Amino acid sequence: MLTNLKPLPADKILALMQEYAADPRDTKIDLGVGVYKNAEGVTPVMRAIKAAEMKVWEEQTSKSYVGLAGDPAFSDAMIKLVLGGSIERDRISAVATPGGTGAVRQAFELLQMANPSGRVFVSNPTWPNHVTILKHLHIETIAYRYFDEATCGVDFDAMIEDLKTSKKGDLVLLHGCCHNPTGANLNLIQWQEVVNVLQETGATPMIDIAYQGFGDGLEEDAAGVRLIATSLPETLIAASCSKNFGIYRERTGILMAINETNATQKVTQGALAHLNRQNYSFPPDHGARLVSTILNNEALRADWQAELEEVRISMLGLREQLAGELQRLSGSDRFAFVGQHRGMFSRLGIAPELVEKMKTEHGIYMVGDSRINIAGLNQQTVPILAKAIIDSGA
Ligand code: LMR
Repeated sequence: MLTNLKPLPADKILALMQEYAADPRDTKIDLGVGVYKNAEGVTPVMRAIKAAEMKVWEEQTSKSYVGLAGDPAFSDAMIKLVLGGSIERDRISAVATPGGTGAVRQAFELLQMANPSGRVFVSNPTWPNHVTILKHLHIETIAYRYFDEATCGVDFDAMIEDLKTSKKGDLVLLHGCCHNPTGANLNLIQWQEVVNVLQETGATPMIDIAYQGFGDGLEEDAAGVRLIATSLPETLIAASCSKNFGIYRERTGILMAINETNATQKVTQGALAHLNRQNYSFPPDHGARLVSTILNNEALRADWQAELEEVRISMLGLREQLAGELQRLSGSDRFAFVGQHRGMFSRLGIAPELVEKMKTEHGIYMVGDSRINIAGLNQQTVPILAKAIIDSGA
């Protein structure tokens, strides 16, 4: 049987991670996978996570199953974090999932249960795993224009034109903040335009929010999600705790489904629990428990927010430094977008051959589409990257 299997193409981001690990040069720079690293190149365990682990270790008396939807305290805390109390709790169905990816997968399967012929609109480009999961599930996928290669900003008019072709029963996947892979984001006026289009077409928005707190701040980064959720009858939200709590390997995420009224909330909740049961039964608990422990404890929450803010500010500083260096070396403003992008990523708009050249000649690893992880830099490596970009002829 196994001899029938065909080799699959490698995931580009994960393949790059392996290539970087195998490179013996000690001057190499990793701007690939989306993992936060501090100036020393370390992905630290956040202080509040350490403290919460201690608390859970001391207080937890059982490792027995919790429930198919996960711990209700986790759902309540995450709903508050993302939606800020903007939606009545009894309209929201929610399940804990293994990471944000688990939530994305469950959202697509929920679409299949609700409307087997539903299509999913994704931004061009989007996180590659969105597209491969949809393909794996045989869901029709429509790419809507998003990134303007010339300005490295959002091609908003084209986006709106494409979203107008969505219809009731489709999902329109939007990045809540810190667009992956481009770093180019919608402003609130543009979010409102998206609301207007979805009101017209009747398609359901699905928001993937994996970097809340990495862009303009915890509340600011949720503003688009809240506008969508409060303006439209139904919204799906896949949220990840991997980055903002730094608990990547714990696989902690949540899928929220906002129902038009509380009359359908229970049925949707049942469907979500069913999906968990069919796919992996009970969702992981450890990371979720750390998150709810932090969010429900004033001191831990304050410390977590302070550290998250340090992370955000440090990435913003590196962005500004890189934009400044590029301006100095190129004698132009053509890389000013690096300072305007938000989150962990920026897509530089550099040709794949030049991306490859920077890897072989300088040991600088970025994703083939010229996405860089800003957090892979530090004050010493920013000038090295800037010089390599300009020297490459980009
Ligand atoms: C990324 O985009 O690099 C991260 O979301 C990690 C991943 O799983 O691809």
